[in-house]
Amino acid sequence: MKDTGVKEEVSILYQDVIKGLQTDQKYLPSKYFYDDRGSDLFEQICELEEYYPTDCEMEIMRDYINEISDWVGPGVQLIELGSGSSTKTRLLLDHCQNLAMYVPVDISGSFLKEIAKSLNHDYPELDIHPVAADYTTPFDVPDSDNVEKRVVYYPGSTIGNFTRKRAASFMNAIGENLSPGDGLLIGVDLKKEVGVLEAAYNDSKGVTAEFNKNILTRLNRELDSDFDVEQFQHRAFYNSKKGRIEMHLESLADQSVKINGDLVSFKKGETIHTENSHKYSVEEFEEIAGDYFERRKTWTDKRDYFSVHYFERV
Ligand code: AVI
Repeated sequence: MKDTGVKEEVSILYQDVIKGLQTDQKYLPSKYFYDDRGSDLFEQICELEEYYPTDCEMEIMRDYINEISDWVGPGVQLIELGSGSSTKTRLLLDHCQNLAMYVPVDISGSFLKEIAKSLNHDYPELDIHPVAADYTTPFDVPDSDNVEKRVVYYPGSTIGNFTRKRAASFMNAIGENLSPGDGLLIGVDLKKEVGVLEAAYNDSKGVTAEFNKNILTRLNRELDSDFDVEQFQHRAFYNSKKGRIEMHLESLADQSVKINGDLVSFKKGETIHTENSHKYSVEEFEEIAGDYFERRKTWTDKRDYFSVHYFERV
């Protein structure tokens, strides 16, 4: 039988889910938040009053775009990881001198196509090479004689969703694929008052709660499981020892869930850990990137909530 790839995806999802729900502290990989509904809810989170990272990063990009584009330099191949709608990137595209090539990398091929079409329209002179790939695994970047230097752009503090160890190995993987003199422009959420952090992940409209619970709706649809979504509640809190916001789904009752023939039991009050969002001081992040990179410049917003760093590959 011809392999369509669909079955394989389902079985990877199934294996990940069973593995996560059979450990002592149950967990689900946070990448499974992002089905169509989850991606839409994430866009809504970015618009929320309490969710400061998006506004703060945009403020930094707007206020310091001239300095930032000076550090990026001329004749650059700009590689954006998890490019999504490329909103912040437009500022860079507008200000960087003689940009040699823009390479947006995103897992969603159809989304990339749309974005590339609109960027091609707005920047007819720019060489745009979208790459549909999971950027956490190796992928090819197009070569060109015009490229003087490569700069990886990784905004949004998505690095915070990795464990510290994974974040360091991911920084090393980027470093290994760059040459001395190349750059990394990265957005990283800073440590701050717990009240501000916890409000950002417990918004008053309940959008983050819906985003968190949507992962169960996705499993019901794609794995034919029977989670009673109403019997789980959203919990998000700052774990100060680990320097991270943790999101969990807490079972409101003793219950069992069927997943593709397997039965998983939950005690009342037991949680599924669904996401980590690490917050780093400038020095902590410098250490994480330190095997291959030296920090050249850091910009923060007026409240010092968020940071954008320019690192040079040494
Ligand atoms: C994508 N990532 C950086 C977001 C964060 O803040 O960790 C995901 C998110 N989870 C809940 N709200 C936003």
